[in-house]
Amino acid sequence: MILVTGGAGFIGANFVLDWLAGNAEPVVNLDKLTYAGNAENLSALQGDKRHVFVQGDIGNYALVAKLLAEHKPRAIVHFAAESHVDRSIHSPDAFIETNVMGTFRLLEAALAYWRELQGEASGAFRFLHVSTDEVYGSLGPTEPAFTENHPHQPNSPYSASKAAADHLVRAYHHTYGLPVLTTHCSNNYGPYHFPEKLIPLMIVNALAGKALPVYGDGLQIRDWLYVTDHCAAIRRVLQAGRVGEAYNIGGNNERANIELVKAICALLDKERPLAGGKSYAQQITHVTDRPGHDRRYAINAGKIARELGWKPTETFETGLRKTVDWVLKNPQWIANVQSGAYREWIKKNYLGQVA
Ligand code: NAD
Ligand code: TYD
Repeated sequence: MILVTGGAGFIGANFVLDWLAGNAEPVVNLDKLTYAGNAENLSALQGDKRHVFVQGDIGNYALVAKLLAEHKPRAIVHFAAESHVDRSIHSPDAFIETNVMGTFRLLEAALAYWRELQGEASGAFRFLHVSTDEVYGSLGPTEPAFTENHPHQPNSPYSASKAAADHLVRAYHHTYGLPVLTTHCSNNYGPYHFPEKLIPLMIVNALAGKALPVYGDGLQIRDWLYVTDHCAAIRRVLQAGRVGEAYNIGGNNERANIELVKAICALLDKERPLAGGKSYAQQITHVTDRPGHDRRYAINAGKIARELGWKPTETFETGLRKTVDWVLKNPQWIANVQSGAYREWIKKNYLGQVA
């Protein structure tokens, strides 16, 4: 069994769904169900005994200790976090509380648990920390992509809180020997992406006839990776990653935001043509830039390719088409998020054990 934290969020839910589709090993899924947690993402697992859902906080030491003692996982895969940069600028407190203090308390509980494990179970245990490329800071236009040796230079409260967590994870290995692994992934996109983030927001706003708000000149660059490729990389790192090491994960897909938004508009022009041959691109509106906005992220994923043989399977074109199609085919999911009904889902539907 493995313990996943944040498994009702965007990447965590994709990870749990993929894991259980390809692997009989059960999952304990600990998620607080903040605004970003959507238990409906896991509706396909209703009645599946391999999935134990527990609503709770990673910062609740007693709860985590109890779950570890009860389920005896061989690994913890730690996704739970506050993840939206814009929110971190307006209200950083929750980012410090969950990403720093929550990770600290989770590490404490994991360390106490791991110290009691004997023989093979002790050697096999892993704490996999899911981090981001944003901890490395911002690149100039011609600078080489981030390697794992790039210094941490976080610029937003979000990336600073993730960087703090990275340092704690590293220290728990160096000082106490906890068998940790850290991954730094670039921007993800795909199914179940909360529509406050760039790609789903643009698709949803375009279809609703609303403005498509591009921050500043829109020439900021992100390196996009389809979410199931990220999930496959995490599985591979968990399986064969070297203890104490960090692995960058990226899609080699650098795109300027404005280019990406135009690509979404072009896809929608084909899939859901507007009357009179108009383009969704007419809804693009440049708005005030995000304070401290990082100009460019790019990931060098050479280490994970060389050491573990992972590489992405989706191209940006196939991934973006799948993402647009998913939104078009799931209007109820979008409506439930927009109305807030998704927050009631867990109360109305059985999803296993709810603490
Ligand atoms: P998300 O915001 O969609 O989901 C986060 C999940 O964590 C939610 O289900 C939420 O309910 C849960 N959560 C929040 N605080 C919690 C707490 N205190 N205790 C328990 N659960 C809590 O985030 P995401 O986009 O799925 O990202 C998952 C992880 O991957 C994060 O650690 C993030 O930093 C990292 N990451 C994200 C991206 C990206 O592009 N989205 C890229 C690289 C790394
Ligand atoms: P986002 O999805 O918030 O991810 P991150 O900031 O973690 O990279 O934003 C991706 C890029 O899109 C980032 O450069 C900010 C920009 N952006 C906009 O231009 N408009 C928007 O409405 C949003 C949400 C983001």
